[in-house]
Parts: sequence; structure tokens; C-alpha cells
Amino acid sequence: VDPEVKALRELYAEATKLYHHLLVNTASGEEALTYLTSRGLDEKTIDAFMLGYAPEGNILYDYFQTQKVDYQLLRKSELFVEWSDGSLHDRFANRVLFTIRDSTGHPIAFSGRKLTQNDDEPKYINSPESLLFNKSAELFNLDLAKDTIKKQKHVILFEGFMDVIAAFQAGVQNGVASMGTSLTTEQVQRLSRMADGISISYDSDMAGQKATKRALDLITQQGRLSAQIIHIPDNQDPDEYLRSNDATAFNQVLVHNVEDPVTFNLRYLQIDRNLNNQTEMFAYISDALTVIATVKEPVIREQFLRQLANEFDLSYDALQDQIRPLLLQKQ
Ligand code: GTP
Ligand code: MN
Ligand code: MN
Ligand code: MN
Ligand code: MN
Repeated sequence: VDPEVKALRELYAEATKLYHHLLVNTASGEEALTYLTSRGLDEKTIDAFMLGYAPEGNILYDYFQTQKVDYQLLRKSELFVEWSDGSLHDRFANRVLFTIRDSTGHPIAFSGRKLTQNDDEPKYINSPESLLFNKSAELFNLDLAKDTIKKQKHVILFEGFMDVIAAFQAGVQNGVASMGTSLTTEQVQRLSRMADGISISYDSDMAGQKATKRALDLITQQGRLSAQIIHIPDNQDPDEYLRSNDATAFNQVLVHNVEDPVTFNLRYLQIDRNLNNQTEMFAYISDALTVIATVKEPVIREQFLRQLANEFDLSYDALQDQIRPLLLQKQ
């Protein structure tokens, strides 16, 4: 291993240990610990995920100063923001910390969440990329999830860190998340080496549905994972659903509230469309046929066509006539 990488790994290991200690053992972490507890996390989970708290001020910087850590190394760590005078300041001051680990369990970055919501600062801030942290390649929780993913040949993709953690605590241990950004080809490739199937379990709000569409298109394009979409009820995210229900109900949702990609795409096409308006209805039907034309199996295709005919009281024959040129195009 590159000596600089090794040194940075040690810094992150130390930072993780210090932030975790401040969270669980000190008065300065009390409010943050109460916050995490009130969100339903128990001690075992807080330990397993190496959660931490960065108090106000420059605690981490001061700590590394006492150890005489080299300034250039501290700069490269991205644990600090650099002011124009060159001085370094704790990047995550006053935030609860989610430790981002690589697939072998080394801490390589943090995401810090504000304890209380105010609009002038972002809810989450993430480490920028560094020698250790390649944002587009890493997946949150892959280290703890990989054995289960390989055993079940199935992975669950969540949107947020808290969704992964809450699911894990509820016994669903094959969950990962991308880094607060859109899913990437590289991430899909990594997952397809471990699993055959993937469940996308993003938030049920509009942002989550849009992100689901993007992720699904990417997974379909790559073509090696069979995808399904989990629909979380009541406009919640998985963590909220778990909090307002229980692990059993959540597991039921994972098994039963499942859509195949075509069904999701058809539902997605209906969002923001007024299907009582004839022009918009015909536009929907035309788009829906494009989606249905991607189905390879004639029997399944026929089922979706019949469903569409029933939904809008159209003749099956007319739909068949209209989809035929789309099928010929594909050959
Ligand atoms: P909680 O409110 O803690 O439950 O977070 P959440 O995961 O439900 O957040 P949300 O659904 O709003 O966003 C999903 C993911 O997007 C988060 O886990 C973050 O990774 C990311 N995210 C959310 N807000 C911000 C932000 O203000 N800045 C950045 N960089 N990322 C964010
Ligand atoms: Mn501990
Ligand atoms: Mn959301
Ligand atoms: Mn969410
Ligand atoms: Mn949430």
C-alpha cells in the first residue's frame, strides 16, 4: 500500500475513534446521542456503524496537533476546511457523523448531519473525494452487507444512510446506499459481481421516484442485475416506515410491495399527467407502448397490453396494431 494512503487510513481510523468516543462517552456528545436514540438506534448499532459526533470547534485538529501530524497530510485528508490564510478547521463541527467505510471496513470519509433543522445550512455535508474516497465507486455499508448479499444473491439499494442503518438493525442486512448522489455505472458493476437481483427501495416522495427511474434505467442498461422496485407506503422513506411500524411490517413490504420494472415505468409515466385529458391520455398510451415493447416474452407483453386496454377501455386489437412497428424496430 502507498505510504500516503496508509497514513491517511490511520488518520481516519483515529478520527473515527475520537468522534465515536465523543458521542458515546462525553457530555459534549450527549445531545447527539439522545438524537440518535430518539431515532430508534440502539447501542449495538451505534457501535457497529461507528457513528460519531463532532462538537463545535477544532477538536480533531487540536488532537492531531498534539500528535504532531504533518500539515500536508492533514490537508490531503479532507477532514478539514482550509481558510484563505492556510489554517485548517474541522469540517464537520457540530454534526452527527456517519462513517463511510470502504468494502474492507476501513473508514475513508464522513457524512455529517445537523441535529436540528434550519434552512441556511445543508442537512448533510459529505467529505469531498480524497486519495481514500472515490465517491462514484464506493457504496455505503458494502463491508457489513457483502456476505449477506453474496449469500442471498440479492442486494437492496436505499437512498439514505439512515435507511440502511435502520434496516440493518431490523435484520435486513443486505442494504447499501450510494453516497447521497445518483447511482453510478461503477457501483452497479460492483453489485452485479456479488448479486443476481437488486431491489430499489428509495423514498416514496417525488425526488425518490425520480431517482428510482434513473437508477432503474442504469441497471437495465447494464443488463446484469434483475431489478425490482419496492414501494414504501404512506409517502415515507424506509427509515420512517420502520419507525412508525415495525420490523415485521417492513419485511412484509420488502416481499409484497414489489413492482417489476415495466409496472414501475408505466406508473412513473402517469405521474404529473392528467389522463382525463384526451391528448395527454393518447400521449401516455404511446409512451406506455414503448415501455411494453421492451418486454421480450410475448405472453407477458400480451398481459400488459390487455391491462392497458382494460384501464382505458380500448380495443386490444388496436393496441396490438400500434405496438407492432415498435416491435419490428427492435429486431
Ligand atoms: P434523514 O432526514 O436523516 O432521515 O435523512 P434522509 O436520508 O431521509 O435524507 P433525504 O431523504 O432528504 O436524502 C437522501 C440522501 O440524500 C441523504 O441520506 C443524503 O445522503 C443526501 N442528502 C440529503 N440532504 C442533503 C444535503 O443537504 N446535502 C447533501 N450533500 N446531501 C444530502
Ligand atoms: Mn463503542
Ligand atoms: Mn428523500
Ligand atoms: Mn429519506
Ligand atoms: Mn429519512
